[in-house]
Amino acid sequence: MKLSAVRAIITGGGSGMGRAFALHLASEGASVAVADIAEEALADTVNAASDLPGKVCAITADVTDEASVHNLVQEAREQLGGLNVLINNAGIFRDGLLVKVDRETKKVSRAMSLEQWNQVLNVDLTGPFLCTREFTTSCIDGGVSDAVVVNISSVARHGNTGQSNYSAAKAGLVADTKLWAQELARYGIRTGAIAPGFVQTPILDGMRPEVLERMVSVVPLKRVALPEEVFLGVKFIIECDYFTGRCIDIDGGMVV
Ligand SMILES: NC(=O)c1ccc[n+]([C@@H]2O[C@H](COP(=O)([O-])OP(=O)(O)OC[C@H]3O[C@@H](n4cnc5c(N)ncnc54)[C@H](O)[C@@H]3O)[C@@H](O)[C@H]2O)c1
Repeated sequence: MKLSAVRAIITGGGSGMGRAFALHLASEGASVAVADIAEEALADTVNAASDLPGKVCAITADVTDEASVHNLVQEAREQLGGLNVLINNAGIFRDGLLVKVDRETKKVSRAMSLEQWNQVLNVDLTGPFLCTREFTTSCIDGGVSDAVVVNISSVARHGNTGQSNYSAAKAGLVADTKLWAQELARYGIRTGAIAPGFVQTPILDGMRPEVLERMVSVVPLKRVALPEEVFLGVKFIIECDYFTGRCIDIDGGMVV
């Protein structure tokens, strides 16, 4: 698919990679609906795109809410005059070990709460499920013959200490990328996933420099990725009509 023909929904489009993907796509003439729970952030994305050749509009939506996702797809389809790309990018993390043992008392306690588990699974796995189900229903119903779903996973999909919830969600998303490719190919819908390592987004801004330095030390390329480097993967998945059902790791050679 040509980028200029793209009519996309990008979830989590108010910040970080979602905003970067929207601006890169709009630079290529694409039409994009950015969706987020953060209304003000969405407005900033729309303003940042004002001089670009493509169109960027904002739709407030919560990817964990079935009715909100239904409304998102309907509204995006109307505002963009159709839909052919979904980028499941909205994501959160709530890290914690599974259990903790107190060094002095040796008391064992549960560490990651059920709430932490559910919050991350809801946004990072249920969200893409709801959005993909609604988006593909709309594409098939509307007779769209060429559509793409891009899922933003993470290097944590391989399993990362302190991230039982996040790793499970991001691995599940890659599994769904494969099975959705199989289920949806007959309708002309392709899928692809990207598993980034550390990327320069607001998530990293709040980190202490020594923590960031320790993180980067395990990356063979010795730096974090820029959002535009991850966008190259998104662009490839959209443009290559023979690509489906696979995950591209863009992680500087990192192994968690
Ligand atoms: N930054 C990294 O180092 C990194 C690495 C690997 C994977 N990722 C993944 O990339 C994606 C984007 O990350 P980022 O760094 O740009 O994050 P970010 O925090 O800058 O942006 C995420 C956006 O998602 C939105 N969001 C959260 N919950 C939502 C919900 N229920 N409904 C709709 N929107 C919601 C937030 O408001 C925010 O604007 C995430 O899925 C993240 O897990 C990030």
